[in-house]
Amino acid sequence: MKVMMRRVAALALALALISVHLTGQCHGQLQFGFYKGKCKFDVESIVRGVVQAKFISDKTIVAALVRLHFHDCFVHGCDASILLDGSKSEKTAPPNLSVRGYDIIDAAKAAVELFCPGLVSCADIIAMAARDSVLFAKGGWYNVQTGRRDGFVSSAQDVNLPSPSFTIPQAVAAFASKGLDPTDMVYLLGGHTVGVAHCSLFQDRLYNFQNTGNPDPTMDTTLLSMLRQRCPQNSDGTNSTFLDQNPSSSFTVDNSFYQQILLHKGILQVDQELALDPITQSTVAAIADSTDFSYNFGQAMVKLGAVQVLTGNQGEIRRSCRSVNNPSNSN
Ligand code: HEM
Ligand SMILES: *[C@@H]1O[C@H](CO)[C@@H](O)[C@H](O)[C@H]1NC(C)=O
Ligand SMILES: *[C@@H]1O[C@H](CO)[C@@H](O)[C@H](O)[C@H]1NC(C)=O
Repeated sequence: MKVMMRRVAALALALALISVHLTGQCHGQLQFGFYKGKCKFDVESIVRGVVQAKFISDKTIVAALVRLHFHDCFVHGCDASILLDGSKSEKTAPPNLSVRGYDIIDAAKAAVELFCPGLVSCADIIAMAARDSVLFAKGGWYNVQTGRRDGFVSSAQDVNLPSPSFTIPQAVAAFASKGLDPTDMVYLLGGHTVGVAHCSLFQDRLYNFQNTGNPDPTMDTTLLSMLRQRCPQNSDGTNSTFLDQNPSSSFTVDNSFYQQILLHKGILQVDQELALDPITQSTVAAIADSTDFSYNFGQAMVKLGAVQVLTGNQGEIRRSCRSVNNPSNSN
């Protein structure tokens, strides 16, 4: 009897393993080091070389690439849909304002096509490039999963990104709809440790917050007067300011953004609310005071990078990141 039970158990285990294996084959899944052994050159190093060369001449690419990854993953999953050109593609939607870095992805794609043609998806290049830029901005290293495939669809109508005037409960709901919990959200908003915001996206806080005729009472008054100079009431809103107001850290991926918002120096309304809302307040205070931001930010980026991905035989490996492959034109 016991022998019988053991056999049944062994068979069940074997079947479970086989089915895991088959699932892997049919639908594919993200893996660490998906490209290892698939090309005689190291794909991740090729991408990193391109990012490093750009970083040397322009430190602002860190913000560009981190934001590009967020926008790609949040709209239609991490499938490089944000890269597709077209009169009504995602990149034409208003929140794209100032999304940058397309040229870096093009350069990285050209490099991997040269060494490992037809192998590497644009969606993976975005994830790798964001990771590399974080490394160069002293944010530490994290391993990225790869094996994403590129999507066929990109539509401005699908762009449903959180607004900078979202309340924390609204932002939490938006992240939850992507399978990201409030802690993930707090770490991911740490992406605002680099980069800038244009006046038009927070100008309401300076002059007429929520139609009160007054500024946002939660904003530090020194910051308020500085920003009022930078963003005059009737200006076109094209000036910008650092999201991380610690001047020695505006290009560094670290926890100083959290310290700044605790000092009421958040630029976007949602950033300031993060430090004040009971849902997120204690997480913000803990991160501001700890040394493990880098590790947790990396893990949150990995989780972001897994949102609604295409794998296995879904999607395709684009030849140019800006357009889907057209079999009728191929030769
Ligand atoms: C509730 C969620 C979020 C909202 C409402 C939001 C909103 C914004 C806004 C309004 C800007 C300024 C854009 C401009 O002035 O052109 C911005 C910039 C930026 N965001 Fe977010 N964001 C959110 C989450 C994230 C996440 C999760 C990341 C990355 C992990 C991220 C990374 C960035 C970066 C790096 C910039 C600076 C871009 C640059 O300087 O080129 N954001 N965000
Ligand atoms: C971004 O959106 C604006 C406003 O919808 C549009 O005018 C602009 O061309 C878009 N930028 C890109 C790169 O497509
Ligand atoms: C941009 O900001 C500077 C001060 O930082 C200010 O003197 C200038 O008028 C602003 N320009 C516009 C177009 O708002």
